[in-house]
Amino acid sequence: MTQIAIFASGSGSNAENIADYFKGNPDIGVALILSNKQDAYVHERAKKLGIASFFFTKVEFDEGTKILDVLRKNKIDFIVLAGFLLKISQPILDAFSGRIINIHPALLPKYGGKGMYGDKVHQAVIDAGETESGITIHYVNEHYDAGHIIYQVSCEVQSGDSCDILAARVHALEYAHFPRVIEDVVRELYMRGDIPSNEKGRIG
Ligand code: GRF
Repeated sequence: MTQIAIFASGSGSNAENIADYFKGNPDIGVALILSNKQDAYVHERAKKLGIASFFFTKVEFDEGTKILDVLRKNKIDFIVLAGFLLKISQPILDAFSGRIINIHPALLPKYGGKGMYGDKVHQAVIDAGETESGITIHYVNEHYDAGHIIYQVSCEVQSGDSCDILAARVHALEYAHFPRVIEDVVRELYMRGDIPSNEKGRIG
């Protein structure tokens, strides 16, 4: 089975949606949720889902050893960032090269980069008078929001939209598409032999 770890810094509604999507799937599952915030609501969601969750500090994240140890112990093959606010650290990037993806709540390369997260993104889109926004699912590299784009889908920005209304529209796209795209990417990597498994042949 391919085991996914999700990193999230906040509410974790995507994390929950992804975990629900893979529930009962014999090939792919969410094994672990990790957060750099001890009080993030995502820990409550993990408890409810019966998934182990783990808190780490930024220092531990940047140094890498403790987190890589937890990922190894849980036999994690693939990492999903869902509302995770830290830039991925080099030790984790090295260990999971080509096996980390992120979701961004706008159409990259616009409205990405350092400091562009959550409502700041939606407000910038509204302030710029854009008529469309959307989601971008992309591989993660050493730069914020700059890895190879895997999938984008757009939605309308209507005149008079508040940040909350636009965020809700974008969230709906995330819930509808992110789990399926994760599944497609994991299956492709697995078929290419880029996801190691001790049970080769189970996906496909
Ligand atoms: C999502 O919009 C995601 O695209 C962005 O942060 C938000 C996280 O929401 N990176 P949630 O924590 O999954 O509810």
